Amino acid sequence: MKFFIDTAEVAEIAEFNDLGLVDGVTTNPSLIAKSGRDMVDTIREICAMVRGPVSAEVTAIDFAGMMAEAEKLRAIAENVAIKVPLTEAGIKACKALSDDGADVNVTLCFSAAQAILAAKAGAAFISPFVGRLDDIGQDGMGLIAEICDIYDQYDFSTEVLVASVRHPMHVVEAAKLGADVVTVPAKILKQMFKHPLTDKGLDAFLADWKKTGQSIL
Ligand code: E4P
Repeated sequence: MKFFIDTAEVAEIAEFNDLGLVDGVTTNPSLIAKSGRDMVDTIREICAMVRGPVSAEVTAIDFAGMMAEAEKLRAIAENVAIKVPLTEAGIKACKALSDDGADVNVTLCFSAAQAILAAKAGAAFISPFVGRLDDIGQDGMGLIAEICDIYDQYDFSTEVLVASVRHPMHVVEAAKLGADVVTVPAKILKQMFKHPLTDKGLDAFLADWKKTGQSIL
């Protein structure tokens, strides 16, 4: 299972990159806005830090506009993946860009029917948003199971990228389902380290070690 980090904050990417946990990065217009930085500069900086795919999202909603933006984004670095929304124009752009050798991440997927369209259009990644489905009382992880089952029956090369992750159990459930990628906000990556028995056990070991008066070095 690949771990992407869902952020446009270079400091967060650097922190988890140092831990060897970052296989790629996903950004979106909201994350770029939150960073307060120029999008092209930010994507360029992230691409230099991370070897894997860095998703940069188009903001045009028509095919020609998406293609023009994609051309500019692809010129930033070889590891840019073009993120397009799951609309008719987005799927058309996905097909054209994929045929031209680009990695395309089709985003804002909320149904298995949409995921089939993205795979047919040659997407490198389909991004179903589990948290936003859960937010409206639908079963986000159920959608991941459905898409994994469907893709397994064909030779689609599209990877299932679990997005809109809200807590560590989403990551665990995605792993149990065999999803290819999960994109995780830094806050949730940090939560994944945590267990009260780990802290309690470490405190006890250190207290006992202190009593011995020894030093390993
Ligand atoms: C990633 O590609 C998505 O843009 C992101 O996971 C959306 O997450 P959110 O629902 O928390 O905004």
